[in-house]
Amino acid sequence: MRPTMVAGNWKMNGLSADAVHLTQAILSADLEQMRPEVVLFPPYTLLHAVTQEAKGTALRWGGQNLFWEPNGAYTGEISGAMLRDMGCRYVLVGHSERRQIFAETDELVARKVKAALSSGLIPVVCVGESEAERAQGATEQVLQRQVEAILPLLNLESNQPNLIIAYEPIWAIGTGQSASPEEAQTVHAFIRKLVAGHSSQLAKRLILLYGGSVKGNNAAALFEQEDIDGALVGGASLSAGEFIQICRAAE
Ligand code: G3H
Repeated sequence: MRPTMVAGNWKMNGLSADAVHLTQAILSADLEQMRPEVVLFPPYTLLHAVTQEAKGTALRWGGQNLFWEPNGAYTGEISGAMLRDMGCRYVLVGHSERRQIFAETDELVARKVKAALSSGLIPVVCVGESEAERAQGATEQVLQRQVEAILPLLNLESNQPNLIIAYEPIWAIGTGQSASPEEAQTVHAFIRKLVAGHSSQLAKRLILLYGGSVKGNNAAALFEQEDIDGALVGGASLSAGEFIQICRAAE
């Protein structure tokens, strides 16, 4: 059985007091006893607050983005080493909001994945098709392009995958309209097959998260699917009660 993960992407939300409150509330759910790895992705400004609350516990945290250079004159950017310095284990790369609003291409995403790996971070690489691409029947084509861009970075010498993939159909993000468990399963199976083209061993062990309007009341049905190993949660991760419900559904 693959390990499961439930990750909360807070996006650009929250001030210090919110981070302390939310982290404490999540920690009160006795995460040590839960099977999924529970991970928070706060904005950079809240990493310190989360670290202070979560260090020494089973809760993990990560950055929402990174730049590929280790340091230098890159105003406004954050490196992998800086995230490691904040105790991050993970980093999101290629979230659709980064791809769409900040024009991140597959090539930039691959550079960031490479930088994350060389900093000792585990990249959670987000892929997913838009509403228009879905309507054109181009879902598999888009995913193939996005996934193939990062697969050369898989470490084929290890028997554990060095990255995680999150499938987030853009039409399902923040809309309240999640992909159905069957739809998500079909796409996850497709992604796993693409990875199997490079290594069947790594494909079997790859953690594949689903993201897009995951809530307390639809998580369990998604997690029942064979190729769905957890969730990347946006809006619902800002409510401790809802987020804990999703974590429990992954047990
Ligand atoms: O990173 C998280 C995703 O963008 C999903 O967001 O749960 O608000 O739909 P959502």
